[in-house]
Amino acid sequence: MASFWARVWIVAAVTVTLATCLEGKFTHSAYLDPAREKYFLQWRLDADTITFRASVATLGYVGFGISPNGDMIGSDIVTGFVTDHGDTFCYDRYASARTTPTIDASQDWRLEASGENGTHTFLQFSRNLVLCDSTDRTIKAGTTRVIWAYHNQDPQHDTALMYHGETRGARSLMLLDVPQNREMPDDVQTIDLLNTYSVMKKQTVYWYRGFKVPDFGGKRHIIAFEPVLQPGHEGMIHHMDLYTCLKDVDPDMYDGVQHARHSRDFPEDWHSCKIRLVAWEVGGEGIYYPEKAGLSVGGPDDPTFFLMETHYNNPQHKTGIVDRSGLRVLYTSELRQHDLGYMQLGMEVARTLIIPPGSQAFVTAGTCYPDCLEKAMEEESIEKIHVIGVHFHTHLAGRKMKMRHVRNGVELPWIRNDGNFDFNFQQTVSLQKEVEVLKGDYLIVECTYNTTDRRKVTYGGLSTEEEMCFGHILHYPNMKLRRCKSNPHKASYLTALGATEVTFSAAENDYVPIQPRHMAGKTIQKLLHSIDWDENTRQTFQTQQRTGNTSVTCMKKDTSVEAYHQGDIEVCRKPPFAT
Ligand SMILES: *[C@@H]1O[C@H](CO)[C@@H](O)[C@H](O)[C@H]1NC(C)=O
Ligand SMILES: *[C@@H]1O[C@H](CO)[C@@H](O)[C@H](O)[C@H]1NC(C)=O
Ligand SMILES: *[C@@H]1O[C@H](CO)[C@@H](O)[C@H](O)[C@H]1NC(C)=O
Repeated sequence: MASFWARVWIVAAVTVTLATCLEGKFTHSAYLDPAREKYFLQWRLDADTITFRASVATLGYVGFGISPNGDMIGSDIVTGFVTDHGDTFCYDRYASARTTPTIDASQDWRLEASGENGTHTFLQFSRNLVLCDSTDRTIKAGTTRVIWAYHNQDPQHDTALMYHGETRGARSLMLLDVPQNREMPDDVQTIDLLNTYSVMKKQTVYWYRGFKVPDFGGKRHIIAFEPVLQPGHEGMIHHMDLYTCLKDVDPDMYDGVQHARHSRDFPEDWHSCKIRLVAWEVGGEGIYYPEKAGLSVGGPDDPTFFLMETHYNNPQHKTGIVDRSGLRVLYTSELRQHDLGYMQLGMEVARTLIIPPGSQAFVTAGTCYPDCLEKAMEEESIEKIHVIGVHFHTHLAGRKMKMRHVRNGVELPWIRNDGNFDFNFQQTVSLQKEVEVLKGDYLIVECTYNTTDRRKVTYGGLSTEEEMCFGHILHYPNMKLRRCKSNPHKASYLTALGATEVTFSAAENDYVPIQPRHMAGKTIQKLLHSIDWDENTRQTFQTQQRTGNTSVTCMKKDTSVEAYHQGDIEVCRKPPFAT
């Protein structure tokens, strides 16, 4: 055996460094296996290089890859193992099929360190983010699907891998979205918002708990949120979000009240709690605000009630456990220069978000128009806001999301682009560079959906099979504006479907065509029901909703007194450009 390894060692084109001297500082980490036990990944970013360290509970080989969609095919893969003699073999590979990935001609992943300790193998490797090699995938901002695998034995030959079987998987990570400013000031204080959830047998439970915002003894700034995971329960918690409400919700009545989604007693009042302050996903990190700004609490216009949503995952149907995980609020009385604001952009959750079935990549968009933003800025006597964080949200059919920014008819760099959106991994990300939004700018949230597996039209709605298209932004200074959105107008859709004359029917409480005769009186739902979707109709429909009239929402809170416009105003306005 020794002579065999000596022979292949000569042909193995890798440099091996010993483990001990290369304990670089990693800024990020996540378990890749769902049980969070076997495969631990750490990484850090230095300019245009990313360095990973995989520590895996095996003495066999370890694989790691960057995948286009979570599948092995098309993945840029690195595999490596440490022999009993301490030699390491590590290769840059590419998978063009679901079989042993081939070794790249150009070896672009650099092995930096490796070792074994009796139970675990670790490999530390780095590469440039952008590689000009068709067998390597560029690592971009936004969601990255990583794949992992390991085997409990080393291969017999350095280039011959055995099939990894079930010890493999895929998950989403945001590799490049670095949280800002994690240094906390000395006077930082914390409050924990925790569940007391008696774990239900069901696999998926969305658990809600209300919190009266405590009396802070005056105005304070929240400067960060961190997850608090009860030890041993990490694998059960899929995501935790914190919301404020558009309606005034009685904080005393609902403090400590808990309900599962769809439970019969779920308070009606909570349905307006849709403005997301924090979105934390498994594998994600805390949310840290830049030094200049904090989220105001305890002030006169500040939220008095928070609703926390926790998605529990219980595939093993465990019972008899109480979970006390939640979110930690880090706050300070040393007020920062600015109050943070938060706003929902994109589209309203309404039946005017319409996605034809069988679409590979159907694009919808909601626009925040300048007059709405301008009014809000004028009220605060400010000329601009600085966007520091973005959170995207769609349901199951969402594949891509983009926040576009237009000034004087010119498209500026996208504020955020996620070409690999993952419903199961949606979290607030801090922008690496804050973006100024001026009076007169347009902010457009674009959502791309895949409905190839659906037979019926998908409408906007609350269930995960219905759709949403939101982009929440965090910005400073604060404004009272909370929603700046638009949806295509019903009449516009009817036109796309061939109506030549449209009216509002009080009987149907909806827009209906008058002409042509065969469409007369039929609501859009009826018309859509009987449509034969082909590529042409789909295209016309998409174009019309991008270029036709829209209804805008420009609102502070849900009460009409405070709204800049009422919700459903008919406007003749086209997006500043349409592609
Ligand atoms: C080996 O390394 C793993 C991962 O770093 C660690 O958890 C484990 O305790 C180590 N085992 C020994 C025997 O040092
Ligand atoms: C849409 O989804 C289907 C089924 O999941 C998949 O086969 C197809 O490749 C997807 N299309 C695009 C453009 O992503
Ligand atoms: C768009 O709205 C304007 C103003 O309400 C209206 O005059 C026009 O007919 C609408 N266009 C379509 C195609 O619905």
